[in-house]
Amino acid sequence: MSSEPSPADIKKRIDELTQQINHYNHLYYQEDTSEISDFEFDNLMDELIRLEKSYPEFADEYSPTQRVGGTITKNFETSAHSVRMLSLGNTYSEEELIAFDERVQRGLGHLDYSYFCELKFDGVAISLVYEKGRLVRAVTRGDGFRGDVVTENVKTIRNIPLRIKGDRIPEILEVRGEIFLPRKEFEKINAEREANEEALLANPRNAASGTLKMQDSGVVAKRRLNCYLYQLLGEDLDIDQHDEAIALLEKWGFNVSPTYQKCQTVQDVLQFIELWREKRHQLPVETDGVVLKINDYGQREELGFTAKIPRWAIAFKYQAEKATSELLSITYQVGRTGAITPVANLSPVLLAGTTVKRASLHNANEIERLDLHEGDTVWVEKGGEIIPKITAVSLELRKATAKPIRYITKCPECGTELLRKDGEAKHFCPNAGSCPPQILGRIEHFVSKRAMDIDTLGTERIRALINQGYVRTPADIYDLPDIQEKLLGLEVSEDQYTKSGEGYLYVSLKKALFALTDGISLTAIDQFLTGVDQEEQPIKLAAFLDFIRETGKKVNENTAVIRRLTDQLDREAFDQIEDFIPVSAVLKSLGSLPSHIYEQLTSLSKIKNTVHDLLFSFQSELSQGYLEKVRKLKGNSFQEGVISNMMEGIQASKGQPYEKVLFALGIRNIGENTAVLLVEHFDTFEKLKEAGREELLDINGIGETLVDSLQDFLNVPENMEIIKRLKSHGLLFESSKEGIILESEKLKGKKILASGKLHHFKRDEIIDFVRSHGGMYVKSVSKNIDFIIEGEDMGPSKKEKAAKLGIPLISEEEFLKNVTR
Ligand code: IVH
Repeated sequence: MSSEPSPADIKKRIDELTQQINHYNHLYYQEDTSEISDFEFDNLMDELIRLEKSYPEFADEYSPTQRVGGTITKNFETSAHSVRMLSLGNTYSEEELIAFDERVQRGLGHLDYSYFCELKFDGVAISLVYEKGRLVRAVTRGDGFRGDVVTENVKTIRNIPLRIKGDRIPEILEVRGEIFLPRKEFEKINAEREANEEALLANPRNAASGTLKMQDSGVVAKRRLNCYLYQLLGEDLDIDQHDEAIALLEKWGFNVSPTYQKCQTVQDVLQFIELWREKRHQLPVETDGVVLKINDYGQREELGFTAKIPRWAIAFKYQAEKATSELLSITYQVGRTGAITPVANLSPVLLAGTTVKRASLHNANEIERLDLHEGDTVWVEKGGEIIPKITAVSLELRKATAKPIRYITKCPECGTELLRKDGEAKHFCPNAGSCPPQILGRIEHFVSKRAMDIDTLGTERIRALINQGYVRTPADIYDLPDIQEKLLGLEVSEDQYTKSGEGYLYVSLKKALFALTDGISLTAIDQFLTGVDQEEQPIKLAAFLDFIRETGKKVNENTAVIRRLTDQLDREAFDQIEDFIPVSAVLKSLGSLPSHIYEQLTSLSKIKNTVHDLLFSFQSELSQGYLEKVRKLKGNSFQEGVISNMMEGIQASKGQPYEKVLFALGIRNIGENTAVLLVEHFDTFEKLKEAGREELLDINGIGETLVDSLQDFLNVPENMEIIKRLKSHGLLFESSKEGIILESEKLKGKKILASGKLHHFKRDEIIDFVRSHGGMYVKSVSKNIDFIIEGEDMGPSKKEKAAKLGIPLISEEEFLKNVTR
């Protein structure tokens, strides 16, 4: 039996946790390392939050838990800056920098001055105000005079001291600097967004600024913003040099970038600029130049200001970096709505610290504007944006025989003739019905929470099922339970595959080398490949032989396999694709195969999309050892647990009421409410199908556009076929008792919206509640609404709109009283 911990124990544990968390935060933010995993860190934090909640008497206002956010700020207040937040003059040239220095010299009348050089961090300027050593306010730059108060969000930045200790701390103190999203965090967020098919953030600065203005500080806390401080303001500081201020900031525990340097002459400054030109790309933050400031405060005062900018400081900006590269090919990507985006594949060049292999080309007009030809040498530029762009073509280097790029006329995913609407820049694929990325969009809608609610079918799984031909329409989902054995081992992530121009299946070089060798880890192979990134493939393979020797692992066997592979590649003369290698060559080198399989592999790889698919029908003929090696080649695959989990979700969805099914079909213009409305008037799908145009238009809330799209849908025989199949699988096409049970008619004919946080209902429950009492739940404020249920913190703009339209607001309690009375 455990006894209750004593208050002293609790306090001790709280102190212990606080210390540990502060230590790990320091390591993470200041030293860029971590000794524990995110998971372990979160556990420590959770324990501390729990203890502080249960024992508020021990909770410290400056505890690290104060940084996990959770406060919602609706509209940011503004606050005036005590001293105006100025901007800097800037220049891109050495000459102008020297001219600046001459002005300084003339202004001071002597040479006895020094510059303090810092990097110019590309983030969001912030002012932190401390009163009696405590952080009381964080304000953005705004217009220089007033900025937004973003204190709650800034508190989530773990290396900004909430309280500073030490002597000589003035009553009121202001520290200024730059908030930024570390490059690594930015990439992580974008990788996640890409996986979820969300729009990517353009660059770390926009991301930082967007994050800082978020309303929920809990979300801000998850994006690990960071901050460099570079300015100190306050009375009685007793310092008269900038380097002393920086030293004080460091002493008080502020994060100061260690990149600064004091320079005696402008020549030293120029050296500093050169020193950081390339090296700055290794810093955790994007930088776009160098700021040089006169170090002495008295001299600053002598020099003074122009209208907007100081005469004692200037920013030198590095030119956007440019490089030339060769255009290898163009890939045409198809979006969910069928829109086509061309992307240039380039020979790898080092630009602004990263290897660039691709550049966006936007649309056909851009290709025309550049007059792009095959094999052109192009100029690539990378400014603050992450995706580089092609700015020009070198005409001198164009070969006389080079052909102009001809824009594709057919969809690269499905082969359908592309269309381009008048006035639109982008081409699109009209084959909504069977073009894979477009199918994906529809299936995702079908399984989504408010539709069929099959949460065991996530995007990656759906994508795998579509690409491998198992799912094309919603009805196919319900056939999956009959083919479960085929799904076992089906590969989920297909990033590791690509198809050559002739349609052959290729697999990533990394996976191939991993599968072909024994005893060498994927990480080691990854590192090896990074080292030979710039080389052509045959050279990479030759270098890999040396690498095998160095590892000392199964040298003879591994070398022999790689030799087999290179021979195979020579024999079949495949096209070369960067970082990818033909699957058939890999499978043939992997071990001995029955001859009939060996002979078919290359041609089969033209019609299959994964190794799993390619070998599926031969499985019983392959040796256990061979299958073992193949497993190393495959992507993540569906295993029994995953499959039964998917099947459960599919089965459970059959209970969804008819209006959800109708909504799930994704008929254009039939949203959730319209689906409910239609089901109210026609309680079976048959009746809806038979309904005439007039009859439909008679319904309040149904207009011409909607009737058109409904009829378009009903007129496509394939759609009717899908519905027949869905019915045969037991989906509900009539309103039944399993749907929403009408509990009362108290809200009959009423249009209702809830806004703000409710206490009696979870997010979606209110919708069903309103419906179960005969009402209609709407999603936006319009003059047709009968009343709005006002939750906690209802947005001011909604309130204003409601007042303008004269829509009454009622509290949640009042609403419940009325309905349940
Ligand atoms: S000093 C009066 N130092 O650049 C001088 N600014 O164009 C005030 N910035 O709004 C600024 N890194 O947001 C200074 N090391 C640095 C800086 C820096 C970035 C930003 C800052 C300012 C803008 C001026």
